[in-house]
Amino acid sequence: MLIKKTNKWDLRESDITPEPIYHQRRDILKKLGIAAASLPLASNATAGIFDVFSSDDQTSVVDNRRSLTTIKSSLSNPTLSLTPEKKILQYNNFYEFGTDKTDPAERAKNFITNPWQVKIDGLVNKPLTLDYDDLFSSFPLEERIYRLRCVEAWSMNVPWIGFSLADIIKRADPTSKAKYVAFQTLYDPKQMPGQASRSLGGGIDYPYVEGLRLDEALHPLTLLSVGLYGKTLPPQNGAPLRLVVPWKYGFKSIKSIVRITLTDKQPPTTWNILAPNEYGFYANVNPNVDHPRWSQASERFIGEGSLFSSRRQPTAMFNGYSEAVASLYQGMDLKRNY
Ligand code: MTE
Repeated sequence: MLIKKTNKWDLRESDITPEPIYHQRRDILKKLGIAAASLPLASNATAGIFDVFSSDDQTSVVDNRRSLTTIKSSLSNPTLSLTPEKKILQYNNFYEFGTDKTDPAERAKNFITNPWQVKIDGLVNKPLTLDYDDLFSSFPLEERIYRLRCVEAWSMNVPWIGFSLADIIKRADPTSKAKYVAFQTLYDPKQMPGQASRSLGGGIDYPYVEGLRLDEALHPLTLLSVGLYGKTLPPQNGAPLRLVVPWKYGFKSIKSIVRITLTDKQPPTTWNILAPNEYGFYANVNPNVDHPRWSQASERFIGEGSLFSSRRQPTAMFNGYSEAVASLYQGMDLKRNY
């Protein structure tokens, strides 16, 4: 399949259609006997269409975040209308803390993110370990406003803070054999109840793992984030360090990373292991390649207002980053490499 080379970095207002009325509240789903949880799970045939927006519930959030000083990034898109901070903090996917959208904010309250260590190893000449403080002092911190598109067909615009993954990889000095980068989330069932219980953790075999091709990892847009909205990340968003790959579905953006390994083989990835026919290694946002159980042609943008005022908008190829990333996939069949 050819890559449509359009620059949809900015969606026009005219692209936005009113939100259809089919969004259902959690209680309606429960009455219908449909599990609200486990949205990307193969077993839930309604996933992605009836995903539950429960952040209207005013969950109290413990806030231990501190302010970060940032520089402006040329890779940011300051014209995007931001998703309110409260929604970014209360509507999460972090299955280590449960499969409901509000579980992570509730259950990760006491998650210890300092001290923390991140190892960068594998096919590198200079393996290194970064401690918690290194994450904030090794590289200039940039604010980058990016789109975030979940495979469940909702999206947000998030003011991330962080640095390019390439900075860390270059410091480790990959050998010529390195072709891929593997990522791993912390494994600590005592702290992460979803890792201790298969039902709570959505049936995933933990630790959560992800991977990128080396050229994707070295792309300047690929961000390691340590914060959002001017502050350090809260636990539910992947503190202290998470990946953000803005042209890929959100499940690639692995949270609470402890290990980054350069390798010569395509690494296994959590959702692909769980449902290989539904979630591929590439996971590039693509309106022309539907999920087997729902359309990816449009998405529900989570912005100001209540659930029912969130708007439906067309999905942009590579989530609007075509101009910057389409060349990475030149000649590739994106239907096969979903
Ligand atoms: N990382 C880990 N370790 N565990 C997860 O369950 N969920 C992914 C991704 N990273 C997930 C994860 C999914 S499906 C999405 S959409 C994003 O995190 C959501 O990020 P957010 O909660 O900050 O919006």
